[in-house]
Amino acid sequence: MARHLQFSSSSIKLCVTLLLTIFACSMATSYSSCRPKETKMVVYLQDNGPASPYASGVVSAAPDNSTARGYILTTDNRVTEKVSNKSCLVGRGLGIYTIASPDGNDVVAFISFIIEKGVFSGSTLQMQGQHSQLDKVREYAIVGGTKKLRYARGYVILEILYVNNTTFYAVGKSTLTFQYGCTTY
Ligand SMILES: *[C@@H]1O[C@H](CO)[C@@H](O)[C@H](O)[C@H]1NC(C)=O
Ligand SMILES: *[C@@H]1O[C@H](CO)[C@@H](O)[C@H](O)[C@H]1NC(C)=O
Ligand SMILES: *[C@@H]1O[C@H](CO)[C@@H](O)[C@H](O)[C@H]1NC(C)=O
Ligand SMILES: *[C@@H]1O[C@H](CO)[C@@H](O)[C@H](O)[C@H]1NC(C)=O
Repeated sequence: MARHLQFSSSSIKLCVTLLLTIFACSMATSYSSCRPKETKMVVYLQDNGPASPYASGVVSAAPDNSTARGYILTTDNRVTEKVSNKSCLVGRGLGIYTIASPDGNDVVAFISFIIEKGVFSGSTLQMQGQHSQLDKVREYAIVGGTKKLRYARGYVILEILYVNNTTFYAVGKSTLTFQYGCTTY
């Protein structure tokens, strides 16, 4: 019995040593030899505005006033390959936008870009940031990704190309620049 216990404890020590070695090796790998892949992607966000079946205000202090603090818009927008909304669908932009500042100007946005076409099909990119209602060009951080795009990080420049002031239909050009593939950078 005693011998058996002794055997167990030394084999535990061995495992711990082995684990530490593996951990040290993998840390060394990620710092020195992991080169993240860098990708640039241009897609177009077809924003149907608050009055479409693709979007709806949910828990909102001011459901009908998109410049009032507390207004919350959820979106399920089409993302296309070209500027025309009839061009090839490459994915969807699921988002939550809310007015954060008392003057109604500052928006906080959280967007999941669900990719449905191409090499990253089935993967997602997660973006978040702040913009002013008046900004024609916005920048959000890409803070992560899933599946093939795990550990993604970078930024997206969203340029508003067109807004219909009656329907709020809008088209934005999104230029995404990001790295992925390494656990540390
Ligand atoms: C919407 O909210 C803003 C900011 O609180 C306010 O100035 C404006 O009068 C409101 N508009 C309407 C139509 O209630
Ligand atoms: C496409 O854009 C036009 C305006 O350019 C708009 O009237 C139409 O509703 C849009 N179609 C879709 C499917 O969003
Ligand atoms: C805005 O959309 C409406 C409805 O689709 C359309 O009748 C109108 O011409 C559009 N306005 C502009 C400036 O494109
Ligand atoms: C739509 O509204 C914006 C902001 O108020 C304004 O700058 C723009 O000229 C308007 N566009 C049209 C076609 O009326």
